[in-house]
Amino acid sequence: MDDRVVTRSATNFDESFELSLRPQNLQQYIGQQKVKKNLKIFIEAAKMREESLDHVLLYGPPGLGKTTLAAVIANEMGVNIRMTSGPAIERPGDLAAILSDLEPGDVLFIDEIHRLPRSIEEVLYPAMEDYCLDIVVGKGPAARSVRLDLPPFTLVGATTRSGALSAPLRDRFGVLLRLDYYDEEALAEIVKRSSSLFDVAIDDQASVELARRSRGTPRIANRLLKRVRDYAQVIGDGAITIDLSKTALELLQVDPLGLDHIDRKLMETMIERFRGGPVGLDTIAASIGEESMTIEDVYEPYLMQIGFIQRTPRGRMATAPAYEHFGYSYPSET
Ligand code: ADE
Repeated sequence: MDDRVVTRSATNFDESFELSLRPQNLQQYIGQQKVKKNLKIFIEAAKMREESLDHVLLYGPPGLGKTTLAAVIANEMGVNIRMTSGPAIERPGDLAAILSDLEPGDVLFIDEIHRLPRSIEEVLYPAMEDYCLDIVVGKGPAARSVRLDLPPFTLVGATTRSGALSAPLRDRFGVLLRLDYYDEEALAEIVKRSSSLFDVAIDDQASVELARRSRGTPRIANRLLKRVRDYAQVIGDGAITIDLSKTALELLQVDPLGLDHIDRKLMETMIERFRGGPVGLDTIAASIGEESMTIEDVYEPYLMQIGFIQRTPRGRMATAPAYEHFGYSYPSET
């Protein structure tokens, strides 16, 4: 179970409040300037032509607002959105049912689209290209293919790994947009916006502090804000100050770079037990009692992003900044 306060994946707890914080339109959506600029033009052009928007593929790490952006797109186009995900669609009939239920111009959002089974992808191709469905009715010798027309619609696909998408599926998206980690300024603005929606006072320094510890990820920023708000209510007078946030974040074991106890354990193991590496992924995994895949997909990306871990052909290595951050002296070359 991934129950860290700094996990990028959505937890049930996130779902309960993310909905209320979600920006409704492009104007309210903070950060991702390049993506917004492009989208604004494509949306305006589609509206001028009175056509549905081209199919859009959103890709990037979890927690950066792909679902939110899909809802914003639908809102800006003035259409409904249907939400589903790759793993939720098990049979071609599931997808056919969703598609044939769409109204003209609607947005169909498929999260984790890279996890759609191939047999279902094939149903999607003619739907995306020609707005039609080829379905087989009947069994055995009586089976025949029937073509169903669909209303024009916009598929918005989201994936954390664009490389995992099959080429034919990828090629059918007219618009490819990559979401990047948010900078500190954008995250601080998101924290301020969320605080005001929560109706809680926060000072500028505190919002920057929360931003700094959020790993470039709004979902983490909002989650930290929520925890710190509780703390402010019980220990303080309800307002979030810089001192209060620092104390609260320390209690939450989220350090100034947004690293938690698991990151620390991982890095300390590499440094102390393996002299900083190179050490193989499986060896690290066995030492700290985690699965290799979990380390690779969940813990390592941020540590690599901030330059604490380097991948080499002989294994993972801890870098000099990692030594320094965790209070070790970096071994000089001998
Ligand atoms: N909440 C989460 N992500 C957001 C964003 N990009 N802009 C505004 N509020 C948000």
